Amino acid sequence: MSSNDLAQATQDQTPAVTGIAEAILAQVEEVTNWRRHLHAHPETAFEEVNTARFIAEKLRSFGGIEVHEGIAGTGVVGVLEGDGSGPSIGLRADIDALDITEATNLPWASTIPGKMHACGHDGHTAMLLGAAKYLAARRRFKGRVVFIFQPAEENEGGARVMIEEGLFERFPVDKVFGLHNRPGLAAGSMAFAPGPVMAGYDLFHIRVMGKGGHAAKPNLAIDPIVISSHVVLGLQSIVSRLADPAKALVVSCTQINGGEAINAIPGSVTIAGTVRCFEPEVQAMAEAAIKRIAQTTAEAHGGEAQVTYEHRYPPTVNDPAATTDARNAALAVFDAQAVGVMLPGTGSEDFAFMLEKKPGSYCLLGVGDGPSVHNPAYDFNDAVLPHGMAYWVALVDSLCS
Ligand code: NI
Repeated sequence: MSSNDLAQATQDQTPAVTGIAEAILAQVEEVTNWRRHLHAHPETAFEEVNTARFIAEKLRSFGGIEVHEGIAGTGVVGVLEGDGSGPSIGLRADIDALDITEATNLPWASTIPGKMHACGHDGHTAMLLGAAKYLAARRRFKGRVVFIFQPAEENEGGARVMIEEGLFERFPVDKVFGLHNRPGLAAGSMAFAPGPVMAGYDLFHIRVMGKGGHAAKPNLAIDPIVISSHVVLGLQSIVSRLADPAKALVVSCTQINGGEAINAIPGSVTIAGTVRCFEPEVQAMAEAAIKRIAQTTAEAHGGEAQVTYEHRYPPTVNDPAATTDARNAALAVFDAQAVGVMLPGTGSEDFAFMLEKKPGSYCLLGVGDGPSVHNPAYDFNDAVLPHGMAYWVALVDSLCS
């Protein structure tokens, strides 16, 4: 099947929409147009200027939503007051695209070379805008809904920057919720789980220093390529020999660079990689082991190693009570068999920073079979736009009643 066929197959799926209000279904054409407009105009981390402008304009056009721009540069927050006092609920969508060249040939394919909405954040944004329009038109809830449109989810931690710029002080929420689309999960189904659902994400850089020299006289050099080979193999023993087998851990070396002339031993080599895990103790063990193995292995061979270890995203940990709220909201509008359990994944998600500050829950929305996210052939399945909107509305209906 070509990438085109795959994209088309995804589009052709028509999941059941039982329980979803007619008024939400009536918005689908408009929300689909928004989604495709966003898809055609992708912008990446902290450069989502036109995307943010589009979001702010839409929110203002709905009436009654207080709109705040420029939080973390391109973040947008909309505040909608309900009818009477009640809880304050944060609903978050990520808005950024990726540095990927699109290969779908769809009529709404990216018009920006090298950039693409390959993770479906265009769909997330459109669904939250659709829910905002629906809720603003009715205001049949108590309390307050805070719509959080967050930039730079991919790698750059836009959620952390929004929090550092006072997101939750300026717009206090009792609970915060996020969702992500998931290819491979039945279109229009949802998955929830309490506790850790996405892994934390760290990076490491190792500089192995030896002594350069002529390739013909290795006895006069200290070969950092041989040392680095031992280091890479040694790091494999962290997961297999040091980690508790009942606790997930990934240690991947993803870059190794060194050497110029084919007949010369270089003076140094760099190794880089990533660590994924769900618990702080596992993370601390991996960090210490990477440093120890790199340094002692280099020393054993007469060289030296410098290790820098960077904590990027914490694990995404769902609050059990908020997860029950979220699941119950889905059950109010979806068939019971379409509401399942989310299995923990070793990918990472910067919504984790929001869940460190506020109780909340992150869930998955199935988009059916098709290319995975971050694939050049991926496209968000518009058939599930009403499901995402209905979930957000149901969450507000159930928590702010
Ligand atoms: Ni994503």
